[in-house]
Amino acid sequence: MDTILILDFGGQTCQLISRRIRDFGVYSEIVAHDYVPAANGGLKDIKGIILSGSPYSVYDDGSPLPNPAILDLGLPVLGICYGLQYLTHSLGGKVAPLDKREYGRMKLRFETKSPLFSDVPDGFVSWMSHGDSIIKPARGFTRTAVSEHGIAAALEDPAKKFYGIQFHPEVTHCEYGVKILENFAVGICGARKQWSMKAYIETVSRDLREKVGNRNVLLLISGGVDSTVVGAILLKALAPGQVHLMYIDTGLMRRGESAEVSASLKKLGAENLHLIDASDKFLAALAGEADPERKRHIIGDMFIRVQEEEVAKLGIQDAFLAQGTLYTDLIESGKGVGKKAHTIKSHHNVRSPLVEEKRAKGLVIEPLDRLYKDEVRVLGRELGLPSEVIGRHPFPGPGLGVRILGELTREKCDILREADAVYIEELKSRGLYDKIWQAFAVLLPVRSVGVTGDTRDYRYVLALRAVVSHDGMTADVFEFPAKDLLEISSKITNSVQQIGRVVYDVSSKPPATIEWE
Ligand code: XMP
Repeated sequence: MDTILILDFGGQTCQLISRRIRDFGVYSEIVAHDYVPAANGGLKDIKGIILSGSPYSVYDDGSPLPNPAILDLGLPVLGICYGLQYLTHSLGGKVAPLDKREYGRMKLRFETKSPLFSDVPDGFVSWMSHGDSIIKPARGFTRTAVSEHGIAAALEDPAKKFYGIQFHPEVTHCEYGVKILENFAVGICGARKQWSMKAYIETVSRDLREKVGNRNVLLLISGGVDSTVVGAILLKALAPGQVHLMYIDTGLMRRGESAEVSASLKKLGAENLHLIDASDKFLAALAGEADPERKRHIIGDMFIRVQEEEVAKLGIQDAFLAQGTLYTDLIESGKGVGKKAHTIKSHHNVRSPLVEEKRAKGLVIEPLDRLYKDEVRVLGRELGLPSEVIGRHPFPGPGLGVRILGELTREKCDILREADAVYIEELKSRGLYDKIWQAFAVLLPVRSVGVTGDTRDYRYVLALRAVVSHDGMTADVFEFPAKDLLEISSKITNSVQQIGRVVYDVSSKPPATIEWE
């Protein structure tokens, strides 16, 4: 499949570049900053290369540098921000910090015609974020656009098909940003729009059949969209008899989840469906543990331990392990893709030592690992899953374990389960659920004073979260209609006796994350 390769220099918006390109149907992949595709065969699908932005200056010690061979492949190259500065610096131009930093919206004026700006109007508003600027273009480069401050905003060497832009077309505030990326990928690189979910199903199914042969595959179903979609694709690509679906009730699930999950899996045509109640084991292992990362590891390891015991009972120890790992999980765990990506959270489905062991044996399959969350939904629809399954808000692997801050107890799980159910039911009945990307309740480890009748009492504080997002990488607070928020709050305090106070979380991601732990 025609591919645009993105070299990751650690810029925060690197993933967005890939998203935007896929959105117009061209496949794009993020690789480490020093990646060089093997000349033989490896170049076949690669139509162009993008050098991403970076928090570094080209003058910093340890700034990420691509292998210079990347410029000798004869492929079109687009440098974005730091990528342009690298091109300029390494090809004989001059980059320097100016007194004037350009940040935010910035009108650009064209100086010459460029295929990169085909169908983009002069005077469009770009989005800048740079300290260093281009003082002198590299040999062979000419300026094609300039900012309101007279600073070079775009340069190119058309003979070599090297292009560079100082602004960020991937950011939504940049007008015509998608058009500019499309002009590069399709217009300049000639990449065909071959990326679709139909194509993905075919490729993944073929890969799965090749890798798995007639062996067994085990999938741990969490009840969330991702693992359900993995289940659907396994059942489509392989014989249902090979596919073992295991649902482990950790005691950290939402209300009614186990029953719903089992019903939807049966509908998928699953033949080997194993439902296991392991809540006692999980809660015992978590007792006394308040550290979020340790809780994640305990939950992740217990998942695998319970699974191993159950697998031994079933006699399928040598089975492949299928996981619903997404592209964002790999990026956020600092794995697989750009080396500079910062580890934000250890998602148990990527980091567990036991998963690593399976991985070392080549027994892990991750059919969604090239997809973003919203692409998984499109895939699920394509596979014929019902809309209530696909429309479900994401639910983290560690479940309520990361929504009860600090130490977990069964009592707290029950309180949160109850409050969360009221919240979600209310969102659904008020027609708000589908407007929100992810909503949930969080039980805080504090009690706050209140009055019931004549007595003062101390009850738990519950935080409500509701965010809108495209893919979970960034998120904005859902602008809750005040009336609904107030009514839902009193419904919760009226029906869940242990909750005395409700607060609404108004933090976006970044700087906060979606989950509280
Ligand atoms: P954060 O909190 O990192 O969440 O902004 C981004 C998305 O990832 C989900 N999430 C997790 N999923 N295991 C998972 O499988 C985890 O440990 C985990 N932590 C967060 C979160 O619900 C949101 O959708």
